[in-house]
Amino acid sequence: MIPVFKPSYGKEELEALKEPFETGWIGLGPKTKEFEKKFAEYIGVKYAVATNSCTAALHLAMKVMRVEGYEVITTPLTFISTNHAIVYNNGIPVFADIYPDTLNINPDEIKKLITDRTGAIVAVHYGGHPCDMDLINEIAKKHNLVVIEDAAHGCGGEYKGQKIGSLGDIACFSFHAVKNLATADGGMITTNDPEIYSRLLKLRWLGISKDTWAREEKDRKYSWYYSVEEVGYKCHMNDITAALGLVQLKKLDRMNDRRGEIIEKYNKGFADLDWIETPMVKSYAKSACHNYVIKAKERDRLNIYLQEKGISTGVHYIPNNHYQMYKNCRGETPVCEEVWTKLLTLPLFPDLTDSEVDMIVERVRRFKE
Ligand SMILES: Cc1ncc(COP(=O)(O)O)c(C=O)c1O
Repeated sequence: MIPVFKPSYGKEELEALKEPFETGWIGLGPKTKEFEKKFAEYIGVKYAVATNSCTAALHLAMKVMRVEGYEVITTPLTFISTNHAIVYNNGIPVFADIYPDTLNINPDEIKKLITDRTGAIVAVHYGGHPCDMDLINEIAKKHNLVVIEDAAHGCGGEYKGQKIGSLGDIACFSFHAVKNLATADGGMITTNDPEIYSRLLKLRWLGISKDTWAREEKDRKYSWYYSVEEVGYKCHMNDITAALGLVQLKKLDRMNDRRGEIIEKYNKGFADLDWIETPMVKSYAKSACHNYVIKAKERDRLNIYLQEKGISTGVHYIPNNHYQMYKNCRGETPVCEEVWTKLLTLPLFPDLTDSEVDMIVERVRRFKE
């Protein structure tokens, strides 16, 4: 069975694990700091804060962006974490419709939903294709809203030459096993705001502040001292995860290029089929090529057929406003309603071989022969 996603690991990852094992420093320590520094440099932002998942990153990001009590305009076509994070913070999700081509939130639909209760917009870069950020930022500026990027799919992608994760007020990445940069589990928050940064450092570690310790460190008198200024959470990254992350970061562009090659091969292989719509990339975008999602009228039958032929597939996602707890949220999403029934995710990961891609193309084509 060919999986839909698979992390790309080699000897370097195994080798990188030696250091934390040998030094015994496996918790939050120097590797996490190094990963944060290099990740911030890669994205082109001042600060990065590492967490144990993107779900935790979104939880903290929405807390520091103070969404509590406000409506937050979001997309229905995302993993449930995006919208749970709004609710964790006592925000109110409002669903805006999506573009039928990129499947990203449609700024014209955002405009229609703005009221004096709106506090934030969440931009999920679906499949690694950046949202139309100039339009989203313009709306946000006009109405004094914050923009939170859910960059879980977007590691390495760009909008008009600028990296995903540097395009709004704050951004959250996922390093879950199926993501472009995979560390089993992990996340990162990126920002340019020094105050937000220093609050996040505390919030991800139970609210613990080492400020006094840092002041007294010189004579080591108070090396045991810390203060707690607010309730935080236990969701920091550890150095085993960060060691993997550092290797994956080095390989990221190469792995993303390979994803791009596979996408091209798929697109060519399906170009003459009128019953499949292949994904498109807007002129302003460099996609992170996270997934390969086709649109097919007979999605469900094709799905079963491919599973029987040894090809795993996925559906990303069931619109979140279908779930009981989000059913009564404001916002009409007819485009999403229509398009999601056609979405089917085919295998895409850097180690997928050309002959496997050829085999997948051939089996898909035979569905109608
Ligand atoms: C769009 C999106 N947001 C958030 C998440 C949550 O990421 P994590 O599994 O790292 O918590 C995911 C994970 O699949 C995702 O796809």
